[in-house]
Amino acid sequence: MIVTQEIKQVRATRWANSTVSWGLVPTMGFLHEGHLSLVREARENNDRVAVSIYVNPTQFAPEEDLDTYPRDLDKDLALLRDEKVDLVFMPDNHVMYPPGFQTTVILDQVTRPLEGASRPTHFQGVATVVAKLFNIFEPTRAYFGQKDAQQTIVIRRMVEDLNFNLEMVICPIVREPDGLAMSSRNVRLSHEERRAAVILNQALRKAADSIKTGERNAKIIREQMKDMITAEPLARLDYVSAADPMTLEELDEIKNGVLLSTAVFFGKTRLIDNILI
Ligand code: PAJ
Repeated sequence: MIVTQEIKQVRATRWANSTVSWGLVPTMGFLHEGHLSLVREARENNDRVAVSIYVNPTQFAPEEDLDTYPRDLDKDLALLRDEKVDLVFMPDNHVMYPPGFQTTVILDQVTRPLEGASRPTHFQGVATVVAKLFNIFEPTRAYFGQKDAQQTIVIRRMVEDLNFNLEMVICPIVREPDGLAMSSRNVRLSHEERRAAVILNQALRKAADSIKTGERNAKIIREQMKDMITAEPLARLDYVSAADPMTLEELDEIKNGVLLSTAVFFGKTRLIDNILI
């Protein structure tokens, strides 16, 4: 496994044999089974697998948790070695954003609601760093998790709009046995918060059940999720949503598909989850 901080070495490795396919898994590290499921999917379907580990400062707002974002590089590299990853790129900030850097990728409507409403500068940071990673690796396929539903929609849009020559692959959410979606931030929950955090998935599943048994009023679905989450004393609700899975506009009536999603604070830790129906 080649581990490098240098763009030059990524490119040399990528193009050592231009006929092999490469799968890229972008991450911010502190890897768990969710990340590893993307790596395994990439391993299945490509000749070579690359992983980036980079806690991208531009996608964090000043008051967010950039400085305390969990990190464990040695463990990450050991896990990636076990998965037979070929190439790991773990750049420093001065490699990704050298002095004089001034280009930002900004998307319009799809970045406004949900995560974008709560974190207004988040997606321009994500889009910019992912565009850079795509240009650095030029992967055949790039792997993302449904866990960050809006992120997949934003990046898919960017790939189409900017003509990136790659295939996007979206992988299902990996969960703890009690239903909590795996997240690097889960380690920051206290014992009590960790127990309370199952409420995100429980509320989403309850809403999904209501839809399956015939409820079509999206407002009622949102109210139901909201009531369940706000009844949990340790939870501070950020948003609940029942939106069009393509445009992310809030629905009145559920006809075809719906993306149910929620963001909830437990103390300072903000968790997200979703179910796509
Ligand atoms: P990070 O939060 O480290 O996640 C890296 C990838 O793993 C994302 O595509 C995310 O959706 C996926 N992932 C995380 N938890 C998952 C779970 N429980 N099940 C399935 N997939 C999961 O997302 C980012 O990093 C960054 O925004 C990044 C795209 C790397 C740009 O900086």
